[in-house]
Amino acid sequence: MKGKAEVIIGAQWGDEGKGRIVDALADRVDVVVRYQGGANAGHTVVVEGEKHVFHLLPSGMLYPGKTCVIGNGVVVDPDQFLAEIGELREKRKDKARLILSEASHVVMPYHKIIDEAEEKRRSKGRKIGTTKRGIGPCYADKVNRIGIRVGDLLDPDTLRAKIIENLEIKNLLLTRIFNMAPIPFDDLMEKALGWGQQMRPYIGDGTAIVNEALDKGSGVLFEGAQGTLLDIDHGTYPFVTSSSASAGGACIGTGIGPTRIDRVLGVAKAYCTRVGEGPFPTEELGEIGERLREAGGEYGATTGRPRRCGWLDMVALRYAVRVNGLGGIALTKLDVLTGLEEVKVCTRYEIDGKRHEILPSRLPEREDIRLHYESLKGWSEDISECRRIEDLPPEARDYVRFIEENCKVPVVLIGVGSGREQTILCGL
Ligand code: IMP
Repeated sequence: MKGKAEVIIGAQWGDEGKGRIVDALADRVDVVVRYQGGANAGHTVVVEGEKHVFHLLPSGMLYPGKTCVIGNGVVVDPDQFLAEIGELREKRKDKARLILSEASHVVMPYHKIIDEAEEKRRSKGRKIGTTKRGIGPCYADKVNRIGIRVGDLLDPDTLRAKIIENLEIKNLLLTRIFNMAPIPFDDLMEKALGWGQQMRPYIGDGTAIVNEALDKGSGVLFEGAQGTLLDIDHGTYPFVTSSSASAGGACIGTGIGPTRIDRVLGVAKAYCTRVGEGPFPTEELGEIGERLREAGGEYGATTGRPRRCGWLDMVALRYAVRVNGLGGIALTKLDVLTGLEEVKVCTRYEIDGKRHEILPSRLPEREDIRLHYESLKGWSEDISECRRIEDLPPEARDYVRFIEENCKVPVVLIGVGSGREQTILCGL
């Protein structure tokens, strides 16, 4: 993949297993970039039986000799950043070069407090179920042009002015609206200067690094966080995260032009999950949901919350193909479906008597969506040792083919287990 720019995005509601796909593809590229979201993400990579969970660092960090970039579109919690770096150093796995964009925004302690307080205030039915990592309030400040950027941590005068400006408002909000204690300026200023000192070796011009890498023909992988249906514009608003989780975010969140992207790969689970509130038409609340949750280990990597589970939603997947311009699908966790007698796929919605084969851009916040399912025959053979598509039982192959035919995009990779080697490459 030399000289190519490839974007990896979540094609559902996040947790599709992007970390392992990025990890599987990272050895072909020179640079791995995170471009949006923050420590709300939880990218799990299993190498030689050891599990690594990254919240902020790019999943390419485990490869010696790679350059990893955290782009301007990411919101960075300094404590989390330093903890992840520290952990890698301790395990002697800090082999990649890491650049943190000076233009990325800092998640301040007040963002996390406000995130939690706002969520608590929302009435039943309006709750978002955020990860409480301060993501929404931090992006809100960015858009409101009062955000503190990582580069500001190295410039005491700017930092002081910005913290004063922010605390004036934040402390009113905390004390008058949320009945909480104010945040003292001196403590926060000291903390922020300390972050700057510790983060200094990593802070740089992420946009220049990524563009220069592409200019000289290096392969660059853009690692999306969350998923298309959690995108601030294209997701199931307002039950979304606050960043551009779809492919377009790679341009905004790093400063590359759209013409530089060669291909977008969507990662989709062989079924669906969602964590947090909001519409999930194919959710299975009974036995099937429970079965998928247990077999798939569907508990949040960031919050530990049990994930909601259900059948594959082709209507949503076709939408992900559309808004991301997908050129291929990486299908993960196919092994989780092993042992089911029948496997169902939702192929159509009916809303107010109108048929939808692709999700409409505004999904109504209602529950009277009628779903049309197709049923496929399941398989019982263990597929975790399969390494070629021909090794899969015919029913599993039929399932993969069904997906390809229904969304008109090739499945280029299949995950049959959590290990790095438990992957079938079929078109990459
Ligand atoms: P926030 O990003 O913490 O504001 O949360 C907003 C919504 O996105 C909630 O429903 C979260 O559960 C969901 N969310 C955020 N990050 C992830 C992720 O990495 N995987 C899955 N869901 C996520």
